[in-house]
Amino acid sequence: MDWKIPLFKIYWDEEDVKMATESIRRGMFWAIGPNIERFENMLAEYTGRKYAVAFNSGTSALHAALLAYGIGEGDEVIVPSFTFIATANAPLFVGARPVFADIEEKTFGLDPEDVRRKITPRTKAIIPVHYGGGACRVEELSEIAREHNLLLIEDAAESLGATVGGKKMGGFGDGAILSFCANKVITTGEGGAAVTDSAETAEKLRLIRSHGRSENTGYFSTTESPDYVTLGYNFRMPDIIAALGIAQLARIEEVIRIRRQKAASLTGKLMSIPGIEVPGVPADLRHVYQMFTVKISQGREKRDALIQYLAGEGIMSKVYFEPAHLSHFYKNTLGYDCQLPVTERLAEQVLSLPMYPALSDDEISYIAEKMVMFFA
Ligand SMILES: Cc1ncc(COP(=O)(O)O)c(C=O)c1O
Repeated sequence: MDWKIPLFKIYWDEEDVKMATESIRRGMFWAIGPNIERFENMLAEYTGRKYAVAFNSGTSALHAALLAYGIGEGDEVIVPSFTFIATANAPLFVGARPVFADIEEKTFGLDPEDVRRKITPRTKAIIPVHYGGGACRVEELSEIAREHNLLLIEDAAESLGATVGGKKMGGFGDGAILSFCANKVITTGEGGAAVTDSAETAEKLRLIRSHGRSENTGYFSTTESPDYVTLGYNFRMPDIIAALGIAQLARIEEVIRIRRQKAASLTGKLMSIPGIEVPGVPADLRHVYQMFTVKISQGREKRDALIQYLAGEGIMSKVYFEPAHLSHFYKNTLGYDCQLPVTERLAEQVLSLPMYPALSDDEISYIAEKMVMFFA
C-alpha cells in the first residue's frame, strides 16, 4: 500500500551514498573490509563499551551472544513476551528455554518483581528489552542479575542512543545487542552488533560470526588455510553495509535531536484527546523515539478500529507488539501457557504511530487532526 504517511522513513543523505560507493568502487574487500573495524570502533565508543562486534542482523548478534556466553541445553533465559519475536527465539536457537516474565506499565520493559519470581536454579540469563527507543528498569534488573549470579544481556535493538542518567542503553549489562534494521534509529537496511567490555567474549563473538576461524587469518587475501577452532556461522556484516553504518552513526545525535523534537510536537497535539495516553518519559531518560507508541485505553476493539480509520486516511499505524507467548508457535507448537496479565492488557492497547526525522509539521498536524476526529 502507498501510504500518505508511512510508519517510518529512512533518514539518509549523500554521505551514505559516498561511503557505500567508495566501498563498491574499491572493487575488493566487500565481505571482510576496513569499514567493519571502523564501524565497530565507532559503535564501541558511542555505547561506552570496550568492544563492538558487527553482525548481519540483531538476531544473529543475539544468537551469537548466547553462544558466546555458553548458554545451551537445560538452561533457562528470562525474556519479555512483549517484544519482537527474535528476543524470545534466541534461547531456542541454542537449545535453552525462554521463560516469559511480565512487563510493567510505565516502561513496557521487564517487571523486576516478576523477573524475581521467574528465577529458578536453571536460570542463566535475563534478556531485558528497551522498548521503542526508551529504557526498561535496567538498573534494578542489573542488580537482580548480580544478586543471583545471572548474565544480563540487554536487547537494545530499538534504543541505540537512549540514556538513563547519562548512560547509554547497551552499557548496563554484561553485553548488549543492537539492530540496524530499516526501522531503527540508524539503519543499514539489515545489520546488528553486540557490545561488551570483555575481550574474551568479543573474541568468541568474532569466531562464532565467521565459521569459527580467527579473523587475523585474512581469509580472502592469503594463500594460507586457516584453522577452525569452534563451531561458527556466517553472521558477518558486509563491508558496504558497514560503510553505511559509519555514515549513519556519524549523524545519530542529530537524528535523535530531530526525533525528540517531532515526538514532543506530536505528544503536545495528542495529549488532550480523551482515551489516548501519550508516551510518558521519566525525567532521567533520554528517549530516542524509535517508535511513538500511544495507549488506547478502551482496548483492542477501539484500537483496531483506529488502525482501520487511520489507514483509510493514508496514515500507517501498527501494533508493537502482540505477545510472543500468544503466537501460534509458542502457544500451539511449544504449548506455552503463561499468565502475563500486564503484557496481555498492554498489547491490546498499544498503537505505534508514524515517527521519523522527515515527518513534517503539516504531517504531524494531519495525524493529530485525524486522531481528534476519530475520538470525537
Ligand atoms: C527488540 C528487538 N530485538 C531484536 C530485534 C532483531 O533485530 P534484527 O531485525 O536486526 O534481526 C529487533 C528488531 O527487529 C527488535 O526490535
